[in-house]
Amino acid sequence: MSLAAGGTTGDVQARLDLAGKHIVLGLSGGIACYKAADFARELVKAGATVQVVMTEAAERFITAVTLQALSLRPVFTNQWDARAPNNMAHINLTREAAAVVIVPASADFLAKLAQGRADDLLSLLCLARPAERCPLLVAPAMNREMWAHPATQRNLARVRADGATVLGPGSGDQACGETGDGRMLEPAELLADLVASFQPKTLRGKTLLITAGPTFEPIDPVRGLTNRSSGKMGFAIARAAAEAGAAVTLIAGPVHEASPRGVRRIDVGTAQQMFDAVLALAASHDVFVATAAVADWRPAMCTEHKLKKTGDPKLPSIELTENPDILATVARLPNRPYCVGFAAESHDLLKHAREKRARKNVPLIVANFGPATFSRDDNVLTLVDASGERELPRADKLTLARQLVAEIAARLSAAAA
Ligand code: C5P
Repeated sequence: MSLAAGGTTGDVQARLDLAGKHIVLGLSGGIACYKAADFARELVKAGATVQVVMTEAAERFITAVTLQALSLRPVFTNQWDARAPNNMAHINLTREAAAVVIVPASADFLAKLAQGRADDLLSLLCLARPAERCPLLVAPAMNREMWAHPATQRNLARVRADGATVLGPGSGDQACGETGDGRMLEPAELLADLVASFQPKTLRGKTLLITAGPTFEPIDPVRGLTNRSSGKMGFAIARAAAEAGAAVTLIAGPVHEASPRGVRRIDVGTAQQMFDAVLALAASHDVFVATAAVADWRPAMCTEHKLKKTGDPKLPSIELTENPDILATVARLPNRPYCVGFAAESHDLLKHAREKRARKNVPLIVANFGPATFSRDDNVLTLVDASGERELPRADKLTLARQLVAEIAARLSAAAA
């Protein structure tokens, strides 16, 4: 116990993170209000309680009836609403809230926020919320010219400087028929960003390079050597690091996982391709996490055509050659990043992990039982460093990834102190 203290996907994860949280969902005027209805539904499905507040303009685009039905609560639309016993809806509504999320945030509403105006319930409650414990998130949605206008950009910079988190916007086809920036994020993206906003920003300003998944070593044009790694652990670490504020590059072998939000992903096939991609980037990153189950050997040659059965009783044999060790090579770089390796073993886990740490000359190895983790959504990890071991007990892979990220962040700060 001498170490420093330090996936699941989509719906399941949102449920783990949002269950029991109270969210004030504010709608200002814009055609993207139709997406806010879906977002309200996603929040409720994730176990959050949702209080919808709409501006007068929002009610032009979608009715309070729809939002009440989806959020399971009467909607508030004006500051003179007599339902609040003290007639102070603008105060009461945010006192129990974990966050206020404006979906969509129109150009006009952003201008109001920037100026601290309070002439309707929604802007009023944004101003009156206890800012230190109830963050404000805004999801802009507008025509690309409105978005690009210096006034909007000025307002946005002000709103950000005042502490709000800006979600998106995305780019693409717009309801007006034009194409460009200003399109509101989709409900699933908003949900992922809201979940991320609750994570501590322990890696802000840091850059992480992560490998994940198996590699595929071709034998002929249709066959190859690979392993059962799903990439889930590496993808969860990439997501957790991005949630913690890092700029993340994920180098992925052939896997079926969706890219985590905000992560730059480079797909590769063979160990040699992974090696080349990593070595081109490693020295410019603060941290390298080698989660990939890299094939130790590859066929010495890949035949041009598919190997065929010939009827010859002598079976074909495949000569193997060793792949380069990516982690050990990065650990030898003169300006090496902080290196974290993984050890997936079938037996003598800690013994092999300790040997691997010494052999590859890395400060931290994360040990797990290979057969017991591949393709699963949960895992048990043991952190092995120079001074001992510490187990992270069984949990879903994102929870473990967040614990590992906190551990890495603590080690970076200790090294910088
Ligand atoms: O050597 P072994 O495969 O047991 O070591 C596992 C660790 O080394 C993992 O972190 C894995 O990503 C990394 N590794 C590597 N390049 C290899 C083999 C393993 O980076 N060729």
